Formats: sequence, C-alpha cells, structure tokens
Amino acid sequence: MKALVLSGGSGTRLRPFSHSMPKQLIPIVNKPVLEHVLGNIRDLGVTEVGIVVGSWAAEIAEVVGDGSRLGIRVTYLPQEQPLGLAHCVSLARTFLGDDDFVMYLGDNMLPEGIAQAADEFRAQRPAAAVVVHQVADPRAFGVVELEPDGTVARLVEKPPHPRSNLALIGVYFFTPAIHEAVRSIKPSARGELEITDALQWLVENGFRIKADEYRGYWKDTGQAADILDCNERLLADLRPGNLGSVDAASQLGDRVRIEAGARIVRSRIDSPAVIGAGTVIEDCHIGPNTSIGSGCTLRATRVRDSIVMDGAEIAHGPGLRNSLIGRNAVIGAGLAGAACHTLVVGDHTRIRVAA
Ligand code: G1P
Repeated sequence: MKALVLSGGSGTRLRPFSHSMPKQLIPIVNKPVLEHVLGNIRDLGVTEVGIVVGSWAAEIAEVVGDGSRLGIRVTYLPQEQPLGLAHCVSLARTFLGDDDFVMYLGDNMLPEGIAQAADEFRAQRPAAAVVVHQVADPRAFGVVELEPDGTVARLVEKPPHPRSNLALIGVYFFTPAIHEAVRSIKPSARGELEITDALQWLVENGFRIKADEYRGYWKDTGQAADILDCNERLLADLRPGNLGSVDAASQLGDRVRIEAGARIVRSRIDSPAVIGAGTVIEDCHIGPNTSIGSGCTLRATRVRDSIVMDGAEIAHGPGLRNSLIGRNAVIGAGLAGAACHTLVVGDHTRIRVAA
C-alpha cells in the first residue's frame, strides 16, 4: 500500500498564519500537523508517500525533506491550482501505479491513529473504505449514509439537510477502482473535482464501499480555536522530561517537558506544558496547556492555554491566554506610563486586548 497526503490547500481560515506558512506546518505540541499525519501513516507500515503540494511546496519540503528522518520515502507532487481532492488523485496517477493507497488530508488530526481502519481494509479489500466520525453539525463535511450492514449507501458533499451525522474526516482507503471514478466525474458547484462525488460514482456503479467509524479525538485544524483545542488534547498525553536546565528558584509541574538546551530561571511551569529547545524562560508563569517552540525568549510574563511558535519574544505585559503567537513575533511593553498600545500588525491579524 502507498499513501497520498494532500497538502496543497492555502488555509485562508487560518489567517494571518496562512500568509507566512502552510497550515500543515502549524505546530501541535511542537511538531507540525503534517508530521503527526506522516507518523500515523508510517505506523501502518506504509513507507512510499506522495505529498501533493501547492504554493507552499518549498516550505513543506524544507521540513519534511526526503522523509528519511520520519522513516518514509517522500515524492512531491506539485498541484498548480487547488482543483479538488479527486484532482489530486488524478495528478498522482503515475506515482500510485496500480497499488492500493491510503489518502489522508494533511491538516486532519486523528491522534488515536488509523490502524484499525487500515487492518479492516486490508482484510476485506472493498473497492474503497472511508473513515467517518459522528459530528454535531455535518453540513460542513462530506456526509455518509449507511446500509444496516455498514456498507456505504450514499455520500453527499456538504449537504444543507444531512441525512446522517457521519462525516468524512479526511482518511480514505482506495483500490485502483478509484481511477475510473475520478475520470468519470465533473466539477462540483464550487468548481472542484470532489472525492465525495468519485466515491458516490463507485456506489452507483455497483462497487462496494465500507465505512469505519473512528471514535477517538478528531480535529480538522482549519481554525485557531481548533489548533489550541488539539494542542491541549495532545498535551494531556505528554511524556515529561527535562533535557534543559532549571534553576533552584523554579517550580515544574509533573507533566512538563523541557527540550534540549532550554533554560528555566525563577519561573513556574504548570502541567501540562512543553518548552522547546534553546528557549529561555525568566521570571514567568507558563502553563497549563501551553506549547512554547524552540529559540523563544519569555521574560516576566504569564502565558497559558496557548501556542508560541519558534523564535518568538515575549516580555512583560499582562499575560496571554488562548493565544497563537507566530514565529519570531515580538510582544513587549511600551513606554512606562503610556496609555496606548503600540502595534506593528500584519494583514488579517486578530488582537484582543484585556478590557
Ligand atoms: C474536505 C472534504 C469533505 C471532508 C472534509 C474533512 O472538505 O471535501 O468531504 O468532510 O475535507 O476535513 P474541505 O476541507 O475541502 O471543505
């Protein structure tokens, strides 16, 4: 089996981050979403991975490289325009050959892994298998209706009146039967070749599609609140450890990870929290539910329920909560006694100051 990971989308809902980095590289517990995805694929024993990339190709290649660091072999498949998930399958045709493959959306987090669905697909080998999850509002997703025996009866992309609460959550298993389906469908109303339509074509042409329900935690990391929620969820399983230095005046919770070369001085770190390599924390109160990236400097501040990305500097100020701070961002105090804030803020940034 091969894998096809889709990382071409631009992620406009994640502005301002999508101006400077692809959403697949946003760190969750100091590891890019895409690396979490590739880890789940490698756990299936799948090592041949095609990654569909768009305008962020260079940034993704810089992090993932040839995949050897992650125990996989990566082939990059450029997509000029985001023409849909089924279009990705057709542009990967030569890479995929006549192998079965797992297709995985590079911004979906399934921390419990996909081994069970993969085992069932391998054992039963239906024409395709989809991973589904019960959601409260299925209208934003591909929706699956099932026969009583668990076979897929119908799939509809983002229906205004869903007839089930089972959403497609970005993981699909295919036999080569999908290629004929992809060739046969037409673009949807949003102008994309939808994989949901290709699956529905298989159903209508007599192919059997199975659905596997994933009952673990799932997030499409499309928005800032989803990313913070996911970070909190994954921090709950953090393996603690201290590879840095912590002075006698500091206090660490029992589920804190300090990465290599980080320095904690006169600070309190509440569980769970991770402090990245080479970061300096002085006179701070950090955590819970907080990931600080590598090469950051935090002085005399309070940060909780937040993600601070690599190279950021935060000093003084009343503290941060539920915040996503981008790479190399600088947050500091203004002139003593000043009644106003001084901001240099990029496009689509959102700031909420304490009232
Ligand atoms: C895509 C699929 C949809 C699926 C969703 C999961 O939607 O088209 O069927 O439910 O991913 O994240 P999109 O993110 O392109 O709107």
